[in-house]
Amino acid sequence: MKYIKILLLPFFMVFTLSFLIVGNPTVSADHDFNETYEHDDDEDGIYEDVGKAVGWGTVITLGAAGFIFPIRRSMKWLISHYPKYKKTFISLSKFLGKYHISIGILALAISIIHGITMYGSEGELESDGIIGLAAVLLMIVASLFGFILSKNKKGKSLRNTHMTLIAFTLLIVFVHIVL
Ligand code: HEM
Ligand code: HEM
Repeated sequence: MKYIKILLLPFFMVFTLSFLIVGNPTVSADHDFNETYEHDDDEDGIYEDVGKAVGWGTVITLGAAGFIFPIRRSMKWLISHYPKYKKTFISLSKFLGKYHISIGILALAISIIHGITMYGSEGELESDGIIGLAAVLLMIVASLFGFILSKNKKGKSLRNTHMTLIAFTLLIVFVHIVL
């Protein structure tokens, strides 16, 4: 149950965010042709805006999954420089370790929702979409290595492969966003 709540929370946050960004979509119910046309145009825009908000949701979730890296690597430094917060750092690191896979799966799921929404609103796959698609495909491969790694945590090359593939995924995501 706790698992499901954790999985649903970011979904709820993304959709609340989408709603806040998009606002109230109601338009006047006039039957004039131009008004109807504008209304359809607005609906397309809303679809795209929601898609974009979900894209940012993916970025946030990817960040949450990847946060395990700086926290684990700087643990000693953090504890020696901020001993007062030792307990907080340890519980944060434990939390990220415990939910890393769930957050990763969630990132993958949200990225697919974003891809589908954007494809739906654009109606075709342009260069942006192809780059996004490459990121999602690479993330799927990285996740497969992640799953194998979860069964054999001692495998150093598995961990390196997972991390390298994720690093390339993030690089492609960066290009996808700035382009
Ligand atoms: C890890 C995967 C992905 C992430 C993190 C991601 C994230 C984002 C973000 C943050 C934006 C910018 C939204 C804005 O301008 O405010 C965006 C735009 C876009 N994404 Fe993705 N995306 C991903 C995958 C995909 C996929 C698979 C597709 C399509 C098949 C796609 C299609 C698009 C399109 C068409 C745009 C609009 C570009 C524009 O007009 O500015 N994305 N994405
Ligand atoms: C379904 C998706 C994923 C699965 C199954 C998965 C699985 C794993 C597993 C089992 C580990 C070892 C954790 C440990 O030592 O306790 C790991 C480490 C790691 N994962 Fe993932 N992961 C996934 C997604 C992601 C994503 C989306 C990112 C980044 C955006 C990411 C970044 C990392 C990093 C950086 C490490 C190394 C942490 C360290 O040892 O410093 N993973 N992953």
